[in-house]
Amino acid sequence: MIKKIIKNYKKPIFLYNYKKIIKNIKNIKNIKNIKIFYAIKSNYNKNIIKELNKKINGFETVSIGEIKFLNKIGIKNKRIIFSGVCKKKRDIKYAIKKKVSMISVESFEEINKIKGKIKIILKYNLNLKGGTKKEITTCKKDNKFGIRSNETNKIIKFIKKKKIKIYALGFHIGSQIKKVKYYIKAIKSIEKIKKIYLSKGIKIKTLNIGGGFAINYRKNKVFYYDKLWKFLNKNKSFNNFIIEPGRYITANSCLTISKVVYTKKVNKKKIAIIDIGMESIIRPALYKSVHKIVNLYKRIKKYHDIVGPICETTDTFQKNKYIGIKKGDFLIIKDTGSYCLSMRSIYNMREKPLEVIIKNKKIKVI
Ligand SMILES: Cc1ncc(COP(=O)(O)O)c(C=O)c1O
Repeated sequence: MIKKIIKNYKKPIFLYNYKKIIKNIKNIKNIKNIKIFYAIKSNYNKNIIKELNKKINGFETVSIGEIKFLNKIGIKNKRIIFSGVCKKKRDIKYAIKKKVSMISVESFEEINKIKGKIKIILKYNLNLKGGTKKEITTCKKDNKFGIRSNETNKIIKFIKKKKIKIYALGFHIGSQIKKVKYYIKAIKSIEKIKKIYLSKGIKIKTLNIGGGFAINYRKNKVFYYDKLWKFLNKNKSFNNFIIEPGRYITANSCLTISKVVYTKKVNKKKIAIIDIGMESIIRPALYKSVHKIVNLYKRIKKYHDIVGPICETTDTFQKNKYIGIKKGDFLIIKDTGSYCLSMRSIYNMREKPLEVIIKNKKIKVI
């Protein structure tokens, strides 16, 4: 199939596999009381969003821009959660006016800005570890995200005075949370907060677990959370759960095909310069992430640095990789379905790659 796709190759291609997206959703969907709101920041290709719209409960957004984008492609506001750490008064006003389904609040100050009827999620910073790289933690006390637990009493006083209803409690412990134990710790911690609300007569029955469900970038697979789903099923503190996966649904559904334009010999190794870089796949430069790279052709292996075309030395995918590469070869960069094209920049003004999906054995440009 890939050979067919590269026949008229002109520029890098992001190739999605519809089956994989569906399989990833099914890994979660066995659980009856979980609602899935896909985090569109991870990949907002409109065709993918439209496909997802048929399979999940809705979408998590972090800006008015994302809400407007979803509306433009026909997604109803009742299927949208509005979150984000820096919502302005006018953003909140807009979301309420448009009747989005829920708003996720990340500070005491923010609640004060909510004027009107909307389901409120109180998203807490639990000061917990998630076992991830420091660049992607979100639930440590020195991260900008979330309500601090010492604000709880102030919030309770305020919402009682203003007769504000709270729909859910929530947290976001970071991205790439590979172990269930971190989720369980976070849930136990938020149960304590729930008890404080309950002691003041405020009943909250829904828990919002932020993103974080991980994929294995070395094995092109998702991690499995069966123990967590079981734990949630048995949980007595909350009746319903909202999750906001991004990467878990789209990351491993996509690979990127790129061409080796030049090779340069430097002592014992070679540098392979490919026609895609940090403008479209920024994760290696941003957080030293590794995407698995293979050659479409078999070659005798030597040490190579694989670098992109951008005028930055950090535009490097891998250094000293033992791989066979010749000029003109096609390299396959794996697991590029999330936080790649959605983070694309116009730096160096390179052409946007082509996006293609394989669905029911048919190839379609999307
Ligand atoms: C509030 C919130 N929800 C969901 C996500 C999605 O995370 P992931 O793609 O790792 O599942 C993020 C990621 O930054 C987030 O900030």
